[in-house]
This record gives sequence, structure tokens and C-alpha cells, in this order.
Amino acid sequence: MRDEVARGLAAPHKTLSPKFFYDALGSKLFEAITYTDAYYPTRCEMQILTAHGADIARAIGPAVALVELGSGQSTKVPLLLSHLPDVRAYVPVDIDAATLTEAARRLRRQFPGLTVVPVAADLSGPWALPDLPEHARTVVFYPGSTLGNLDPAHATAFLDDLGRRLAPGDGLVLGIDLEKDPAVLEAAYDDPAGVTAAFNRNMLVHLNRVVGTDFAPRRFAHEAFWNADAHRIEMHLRSLGAQVVHLGPHAFAFDDGETLHTERSYKYTRERVDALTAHAGFARQAWWTDPQGWFGVGAYVRTSEPTP
Ligand SMILES: C[S@@+](CC[C@H](N)C(=O)[O-])C[C@H]1O[C@@H](n2cnc3c(N)ncnc32)[C@H](O)[C@@H]1O
Repeated sequence: MRDEVARGLAAPHKTLSPKFFYDALGSKLFEAITYTDAYYPTRCEMQILTAHGADIARAIGPAVALVELGSGQSTKVPLLLSHLPDVRAYVPVDIDAATLTEAARRLRRQFPGLTVVPVAADLSGPWALPDLPEHARTVVFYPGSTLGNLDPAHATAFLDDLGRRLAPGDGLVLGIDLEKDPAVLEAAYDDPAGVTAAFNRNMLVHLNRVVGTDFAPRRFAHEAFWNADAHRIEMHLRSLGAQVVHLGPHAFAFDDGETLHTERSYKYTRERVDALTAHAGFARQAWWTDPQGWFGVGAYVRTSEPTP
């Protein structure tokens, strides 16, 4: 983690991965963002899962194991589990071990017959699923548009890798944020109460604690904007004045106004999601959006080998 942070701060345009947002406080702040009026993705995805949970279950078929990637608080999965009566094992995978443990405890209480096997892992590195019963049909649930945090090349590689891990006939339920009016997008990442700003700055607090940087979080201002050419929302932390940040023997100088790029959230169209998933060997069974067409949930079955 130290090396990755040092590499990002040494880059010509300083950048850090959005995965560093998520310590226990970062996960709580993310949850708080989902309650703000401006942050539509969670509301829209919940709306789709509530209205179409049974349709999604029908489209992907019966599953014995349900794996959730970037599961966080696992708030959405009950809407699927209640329509998938054959699921015996639920495997939430997340980088934030504290939130994962709390969520696993809650799910065990809510679904007493369910075996919950939390996996604390960084999905951007090597990761492994626990041994599941052989021939247990597996469905992967990847909600929250977390795939959108990966740039297109990494998103392709990630889904291809997922395709290789799954067996023919296994399923995927993918929740992804869609392109829309930039004003709606920008408002969602810059709420007036400043919750998103606190979430952005908390990355610096997290890194100070875990890798020993000496960021002064108050000396960075939150910014979010739509980058139309790249089809993504970007969040940055803009340096208020010239300053130097240290990490072990390294010193990283920030000019006044220089930004540290912390979040990239790519927005998709159904066609671009189809291209990504088809490349990884998944065939779309069905697709739903909320009434405004702001968020999409697709159900896929792994029908072929990922494109080499
Ligand atoms: C945008 S939040 C979505 C949370 C939840 N799935 C939802 O839909 O509300 C992203 C989640 O992915 C997790 N995450 C981000 N990067 C990760 C990584 N590299 N490996 C594992 N989990 C990661 C975060 O901890 C967080 O819980």
C-alpha cells in the first residue's frame, strides 16, 4: 500500500486509487452520501432491485452460492436473496474488513439458514474465493457501479478475469450508473452538506493513519466535475497553498492549486456494458433501469470463454 501511494504521489499528475477511501469511517461516510438528496445511484438501484428482484432471480436462474463484490454494508443483497431460495452460501468480498464483519453479522441474523463467508480482499490485486461445494451454481452480484471506478482497460481485464473464475452457466448481476445530464452527475458528487467532501478528505486521514503520510486534510479542497471525453466523473483534492507531504524518505511537493486525483467514476451506456460483458463471455439475459433511465441492472449468464 505504501509503494502504491508513493507511486501515485510521484506521478506527473498526482493520483490515488478510490479504493483508499474505504476504511471504517470511509464506508460510513459513503453510506451517509447514499442518504443525500443529490446521490441518486443508490436510490435508483434499490428501486430497480425492489421492483424487479423476482424478475432478476428468474433471469439468472437458481443459484447455490451468491458472491458479492465490493459488498460494503451488504444493504442491497437481501432484495436478491429473498428471491433466491436455493442459495446456501453468501460470500461478500470487500477491502474494508471492519464493515465486512459487521455486515456478515447482520446478514446471519437476517437469514438464519444462510452460511455467510466474508472475504476481506483487495480486488485490484490477487484474490481468491473460498472453496464452494463442487458444482454449486454461482451467481456474482456486483452492484453500486463499483465497476465504474476502474478505467476501461482495467474494467475489461477485471470482467475477463471474473469470466475465467466462473464456470459455464454461472450468473452475473451487474449494477451500473448510466450517462446523463452532467448537472445531475456533478450534483451527486458534490452535495451541499459537504458529506462527499468529507468522504474525499477522509482518504488523507486514512492514509496518514495506515501508511504514515502527513497530509493536512484541511489544506485540500474537494472538487468534482464531469469529464465528457473520458465519460467519467472525477473527484480531486485541490491544494490550498503550496505544501509538502512526506511518506517515509519521500517528499512530495504540491503547488498552490495543484490537484490530487482521487476518484474516477465511469458512466456507461447499455451498449458499452454489453461490449464489456460479452468480451468476458457473459450473455445478457435481461436489463432493467429505473423510470428515469439513470441506473441500469443487467442479468448475465456465462456462456462462453472470455476473449483471449
Ligand atoms: C461505491 S461503494 C458500493 C458499496 C455497495 N456495494 C453498494 O452498492 O452500496 C464501493 C465498495 O467497494 C469496496 N471496494 C472499493 N475498492 C475495492 C477493492 N479494490 N477491493 C475490494 N473492495 C473494494 C468499498 O470498500 C465499498 O464497499
